[in-house]
Amino acid sequence: MRIDKYLSNMGIGSRKEVKDYIKKGYVLINNQVITKPTFQVKENEDIVKFNNEEIIYKEYTYIMMNKPQGVISATRDREDTVIDLLDEKYHNKDIFPAGRLDKDTEGLVLLTNDGRLAHDLLSPKKNVVKKYYAKVDNKLEEADITSFRQGIYLENEQYLTLPANLEIISDYEAYVYIKEGKYHQVKRMLSSLGKNVVYLKRISIGSLILDENLDLGQYRELTEEEVINLEEA
Ligand code: URA
Repeated sequence: MRIDKYLSNMGIGSRKEVKDYIKKGYVLINNQVITKPTFQVKENEDIVKFNNEEIIYKEYTYIMMNKPQGVISATRDREDTVIDLLDEKYHNKDIFPAGRLDKDTEGLVLLTNDGRLAHDLLSPKKNVVKKYYAKVDNKLEEADITSFRQGIYLENEQYLTLPANLEIISDYEAYVYIKEGKYHQVKRMLSSLGKNVVYLKRISIGSLILDENLDLGQYRELTEEEVINLEEA
């Protein structure tokens, strides 16, 4: 891979900025200054230093975000997207949200450029459970738990959802566990039972749990362990 691409992928700067740094002699490969942006570097073999700091190549980026309401889970939109909330150093990396949350839903969004992992997490066949916290406008009942277990028929789509779990916390609050991600799924499942969702937050995707230290709109990269656990699932 070209050294300018390597450094820009690792968030050192735009391709243009990085070319400049290289020409000015800020970049060492195996302790030799190189000044050609086209220089070919072997990602997992050569030792690359920028400003005397080693820059290790990571093929993929994984970020968890606590999405606030009012932000769209897409890469581009007329309105603010989750990508707009990321620092500029993440903007050239083809990162996208793995699964969507509604504009008025808060909570965990995984942002990555690892298409295979994203696909696996979203596929209903892979049985990855997504956990939500929901507040509703009507009293939850034991019978609702059974309805969830049996799967809920979504009228306008004529679709019976996979069995899901409802864990009632209080009269108007519950955790919902689903393996699919149909449009407005949690809201539609609850509204079929006569309960409108007034607040929704995603808490987890498989083994990945939203970090409670992240305020709304904040994000952080996943730890190596979090990535490994997701891949194993
Ligand atoms: N289900 C919904 O209804 N909305 C979301 O944002 C996510 C799941």
